[in-house]
Amino acid sequence: MFHEYRTTVAEGDQAMVYATPECIYPITVTTGEVFNNKFGSFRHSEMIGLKYGSKMRSHDNRGFVYILHATPALWTQVVPHRTQILYLPDISFISLYLDLKPGKVVIESGTGSGSFSHSIARTIAPDGHLYTFEYHEQRAKVAQEEFVQHKLADVVTAEHRDVIKNGFGKSNIADSVFLDLPAPWDAVAAAKDALRKDTIGRICSFSPCIEQVQRTALALDELGFSDIRMFECLAKDYEVRTVPLPDIETAIGGQKVNFRLSASDRKKRRLDAQTSAVDNGSGDAKEMQVSKPVDEARGHTSYLTFAILAPSE
Ligand SMILES: C[S@@+](CC[C@H](N)C(=O)[O-])C[C@H]1O[C@@H](n2cnc3c(N)ncnc32)[C@H](O)[C@@H]1O
Repeated sequence: MFHEYRTTVAEGDQAMVYATPECIYPITVTTGEVFNNKFGSFRHSEMIGLKYGSKMRSHDNRGFVYILHATPALWTQVVPHRTQILYLPDISFISLYLDLKPGKVVIESGTGSGSFSHSIARTIAPDGHLYTFEYHEQRAKVAQEEFVQHKLADVVTAEHRDVIKNGFGKSNIADSVFLDLPAPWDAVAAAKDALRKDTIGRICSFSPCIEQVQRTALALDELGFSDIRMFECLAKDYEVRTVPLPDIETAIGGQKVNFRLSASDRKKRRLDAQTSAVDNGSGDAKEMQVSKPVDEARGHTSYLTFAILAPSE
């Protein structure tokens, strides 16, 4: 279901119940089950046959939710955090830079909560394969169960393994390797071994500290990787608010107004509050919509170190 799309909800589907942007719940559609939240009670049996994206009223008519198709992007928003996870700005950038597409073979470690694994699997399906390794036994087991439950088992092989001690156990098969490990530099030799020798191999290491980047870059250089580059992805969210538009007398409040703003100040003010008056048809706009960056912008997650391995055959 995560890498195939269907239009209507069916028994056994992993669906997403969307109440608000902050309240999204994964469910397995099961006749006899009822989903309850503050907006009311929703019978799974009444979801079956609905078109994905449909609005569903609660049984007691208290409110409504939307029934959405499961996607890796939604899963990243709802996945139970057993570890730190990758979020969408990093996921999309890494996927692009590692040149992930259908048919590619990818090696990942650690699996962690499986947030990135779901996106990789969807991107390389149906013919590609992801081998993901995790040394925490319980985490490896839960991730493996989720891949089966999400019908990704044909695309993902999850293994409980310490890749620093034991390598990946794979040679000359991977198009790309992704490392999210505390000591990625110790896995670079194993990554080199796992990468295909007949084409360009790509590697990315995801590390929160610049010292980790330095050691990984040195290891990559020593082992013959090239085009070593580091990026940081920072997403800036904007929200749209409707605010009252004061008339000119209220705005100036009897104060002396400085009409002599420089052109650059006027431009800056316009950009700061990208305003567009709500047109009520009469030209008497009383409100305006402003778009502003949200007060709490998410900060640094990690540095992304990329490199390529030229073909040796
Ligand atoms: C930050 S988490 C990965 C999160 C994952 N990228 C995601 O998006 O959900 C890092 C994981 O690496 C695992 N790990 C650390 N050292 C390891 C090793 N030597 N071999 C395999 N896994 C390891 C940890 O147990 C942890 O679960």
